[in-house]
Amino acid sequence: MENKLREIRERVLSELEEARESSRLEQIRVGVLGKKGELTGLLRGMGKLPAEERPKVGQMVNEVRQVLEDALEQRQQELRAIEKDARLRAEAVDVTLPGPERSAGSLHPMNIALNRMIDVFVGMGYEVVEGYEVEYDHYNFELLNIPKNHPARDAQDTFYVDDNIVLRTHTSPVQARIMTTRKPPIRVISPGRVYRADEADATHSPVFHQMEGLVIDEHITMGDLKGTLDEFARQMFGEGISTRFRPSFFPFTEPSAEVDLTCANCKGQGCRMCKGTGWIEVLGAGMVNPKVLEMCGIDSKKYSGFAFGMGVERMALLKYNIPNLRYLYDNDLRFLTQYR
Ligand code: DAH
Repeated sequence: MENKLREIRERVLSELEEARESSRLEQIRVGVLGKKGELTGLLRGMGKLPAEERPKVGQMVNEVRQVLEDALEQRQQELRAIEKDARLRAEAVDVTLPGPERSAGSLHPMNIALNRMIDVFVGMGYEVVEGYEVEYDHYNFELLNIPKNHPARDAQDTFYVDDNIVLRTHTSPVQARIMTTRKPPIRVISPGRVYRADEADATHSPVFHQMEGLVIDEHITMGDLKGTLDEFARQMFGEGISTRFRPSFFPFTEPSAEVDLTCANCKGQGCRMCKGTGWIEVLGAGMVNPKVLEMCGIDSKKYSGFAFGMGVERMALLKYNIPNLRYLYDNDLRFLTQYR
């Protein structure tokens, strides 16, 4: 019996020594200490021993059991430490390696130009207002003195939703909405998307952006319009850039002007961009037609006003010397992220 116990003890201790995984320890434990294990079997067999030997043998078995349990526990801790070490080594991160690069993103050049335009006018005391891209014929045309048979309504230009509703062809309907709902003094700008059934080319797109401006008060003159646009040109494009007014026609302004900016590329000397003229056409403007004031419920004897509408893409192209509208719409990040 003693020899048997010693044999079990030595064998199990060396098995523990050789075990390389904690799962192997469990196998060993079950084999010797489990319900059907070797030691447990010996204890069960004690009933066959003579009564006087039982306490001694029982004590020996328990001693061996204690030794093996302690050895198991110790080996368990060793193996856990080894396994943890191995895992840590496998999962090690080299914190000195450069991290993955994250791009910060950038504003679209058109939005940069638009933000600048808005800043300039807000700096002059204007309020930003919004209109609707899907608009009633009434505001897009009728209240702006564009009657039913006017060529600007030609189905070629206008996207009709139904007989009375269009995709707005310009931001000018915002003027009509503001004039019919507010009392002077009025000083607003309204940037936004507009739609025209144009073929896309270097200078045209069926969807583009405009910014409308409207000022109504007592004693507003064409001089105020000219001064305002000159100041805008200077702040937007720099010293030495001003405006030139050419007589024109819009149904909603009288008189009306086509407004040119000094070519920022050649400072008015004449170059390819301005086709040698030194000027670049950028916007339409004029004194709000008294007929429009009256239709919108504003007393044209007491009040006068000016209005203007400019292309936002146009401003971006000019500001950044971009030769083709396509660049703004192609979404090529290599191009777009150059602008900050
Ligand atoms: N709505 C005109 C267009 O789309 C631009 C314009 C011209 C707006 C004169 C105005 C204005 O407010 O007074 O071509």
